[in-house]
Amino acid sequence: MSGALLSCRSARKVFRTHEREPGLRGFLRGLFKRKWLEVEALAGIDLEFAAGEFVGLIGSNGAGKTTLVKSMVGIIPVSSGRAELFGRDAFHLRDEEKRRLGVVMGQRSQLWWDLPALDSFELLRAIYDVPRAEFDQRLARYVELLDVADQLKIQLRHLSLGQRMKMEIIGAFLHGPEVVFLDEPTIGLDLIARETIRKFLVELNREEGATLVLTSHDMEDIEHTCRRLVILDQGAVVFDGELVELRQRIVGERAIELHLEPGTEDRAEGLAESLQAFEGRLSRENPLTLTVQVPASRAHDCIAHLLSVLAVRDLSVERQPLEDLIRQVYATPSLAAGLARP
Ligand SMILES: Nc1ncnc2c1ncn2[C@@H]1O[C@H](COP(=O)(O)OP(=O)(O)OP(=O)(O)O)[C@@H](O)[C@H]1O
Ligand SMILES: [Mg+2]
Repeated sequence: MSGALLSCRSARKVFRTHEREPGLRGFLRGLFKRKWLEVEALAGIDLEFAAGEFVGLIGSNGAGKTTLVKSMVGIIPVSSGRAELFGRDAFHLRDEEKRRLGVVMGQRSQLWWDLPALDSFELLRAIYDVPRAEFDQRLARYVELLDVADQLKIQLRHLSLGQRMKMEIIGAFLHGPEVVFLDEPTIGLDLIARETIRKFLVELNREEGATLVLTSHDMEDIEHTCRRLVILDQGAVVFDGELVELRQRIVGERAIELHLEPGTEDRAEGLAESLQAFEGRLSRENPLTLTVQVPASRAHDCIAHLLSVLAVRDLSVERQPLEDLIRQVYATPSLAAGLARP
């Protein structure tokens, strides 16, 4: 057993479903002669998470993220290989280990729909046997951080999606788990709710040392919370490393946006040619606003050049969005292979 809180070794998951032909005939035929269909959702995963990490798990639809989360928390067993949590086979966790774990699944509720969230929390307190003082203290703090004080006594089914998700998150943290998995907790939520949840997670990770694994299709979620990033593609890990490493290793581009002084548009003529010296190009060109794409390492010199040849009224520099980097990882398998951890 290693010191890792969580580890997967060649973890594979194959779902076996049977194909059914359409119509009654197909149904009858299916009763006697079944055609089995195998889906390899996890194609041999090796991962290790240490205590205190905040890991972002991303990948396109069907990449295997939810399957990986379910295997790691013991909701489903792996088909071969190992998935271990707290040094024990995740599918055979004992109660004392389950107490150290929290799970939030964006797609399904863990709380009681007909009860106000507060009553659900009280039930969870009893189930997990959380000391009263500890419980009260945590609840007060989480309710404040997530700004749901007004909604505690309302039946869960009458809450908005965002309010409900915040309650789900509180429910997952109330027993003070060491590890919490969150599978798309921000799906469908507005910007403010997403930001509030991000802040909450960062704080819990930082202040209480909770180990967090977050999946999201919202790259801002990932960028604002996680330090480590695991990218799945077709059931395999194609990148595992620090987010900054991904940014550094894939030479990022900068987008320089320029607003010109009115009446000086003509000075932009011949600009495209002059940008070649910086490996830059004009990606957008309106009479008074220009956008120049340039490798990050050349941005400084390129900006100096632009300021010397143009009458610039305003200027902004943006990093390449994480989405673009991920697209590059997918598009360049060799790059991904070089980046993946051994
Ligand atoms: N219970 C199941 N039975 C059969 N196939 C399944 C089952 N659960 C998942 N799969 C298949 O396994 C693959 C991975 O699915 P999974 O839900 O893990 O993807 P995901 O990365 O979470 O996708 P999304 O971003 O859409 O949530 C898919 O091809 C899916 O169809
Ligand atoms: Mg999923």
